[in-house]
Amino acid sequence: MQTPLEIIRALADGQCHSGEAIAQRLGVSRAAVWKAVRKASEALGLEIVAERGRGYRLSAPLELLAAERILAALSPEAQGHIARMEIHDALDSTNTRLMREAADGAPSGTLCLAERQTAGRGRLGRTWVSPFGTNLYLSLLWRFPFGPGGMAGLSLAAGTAVADALHAIGVRDIGLKWPNDVLWQDRKLAGLLLEVAGEAQGPAHVVVGVGVNTHLDPGAGAQIHRPWVDLDQVLGRGAYSRNILAARVADALIRTLERFAREGLGPFLGDWERYDLYRGRQVEVLWGHQQVRGTHLGLDANGALRLDTGSGIATFQAGEVSLRLDED
Ligand code: BTN
Repeated sequence: MQTPLEIIRALADGQCHSGEAIAQRLGVSRAAVWKAVRKASEALGLEIVAERGRGYRLSAPLELLAAERILAALSPEAQGHIARMEIHDALDSTNTRLMREAADGAPSGTLCLAERQTAGRGRLGRTWVSPFGTNLYLSLLWRFPFGPGGMAGLSLAAGTAVADALHAIGVRDIGLKWPNDVLWQDRKLAGLLLEVAGEAQGPAHVVVGVGVNTHLDPGAGAQIHRPWVDLDQVLGRGAYSRNILAARVADALIRTLERFAREGLGPFLGDWERYDLYRGRQVEVLWGHQQVRGTHLGLDANGALRLDTGSGIATFQAGEVSLRLDED
């Protein structure tokens, strides 16, 4: 029996393929194709249309990830920094995978992507909805000679990299919400999860995980309980390539991590300010069951949020804190 994935690869172009042609391509009987189509559709949550007398097609074409396309679209500088690229059909989480590999000695510059995550993770213990064959689930391992203390503010610098990458594929009106939500017209388009481990005095490493929504069908979207948007809505379906998006994100992250190692957060603060959507607005900072209201004054030199609470200036480190508008 062929795996559901081979069926999906055969149908990825969105054209109708006869059962016979698929059977020949995969070296199985037509009855086996029918069973595998049903299995593929159930296992991967994809809609496969059976057209009487013609064959099968996906309800919409899929651009599956392809290492050679991603590599070809990377700048020579980024290519030089990629030690290894892994593309998985399914993983629990690209971050979890790279944190495990890092502990086993994987080199700096290991890039990991997946077509789907079964336990995709967001900030603050949230789930990151990660269906098959759409969206971007990408993680990059980077090693630093210094300890985790030297990485303060790295998540902010990485946020500007993702915003730059989206801008590079044509997204306008992109903005950041501290610490690292990437929003389009106040709806979430992408998010970052940074995980750090290592010795206090160095060396240490970080796994930068990036999720970009490219297409979420209503079922998947209903699992997200905050306003969201996907690239299909922003740019139009077919107006961008998932593989090029992966390359732009990897490229921007590599340039950012490399520069951050030499110069720290300083050079990125101006970009952050340009992307900052909430500066000057009334916001609420939340951690655990506590909350503080005030005017968002922007960031300090370490990337901490400054808030005018009316009775003084409070500063907040990213950590376990989240932010929302408080203007109604
Ligand atoms: C957030 O905004 O809450 C962060 C979302 C980060 C999601 C990405 S998808 C790739 C990587 N693997 C994960 O499990 N999470 C990150």
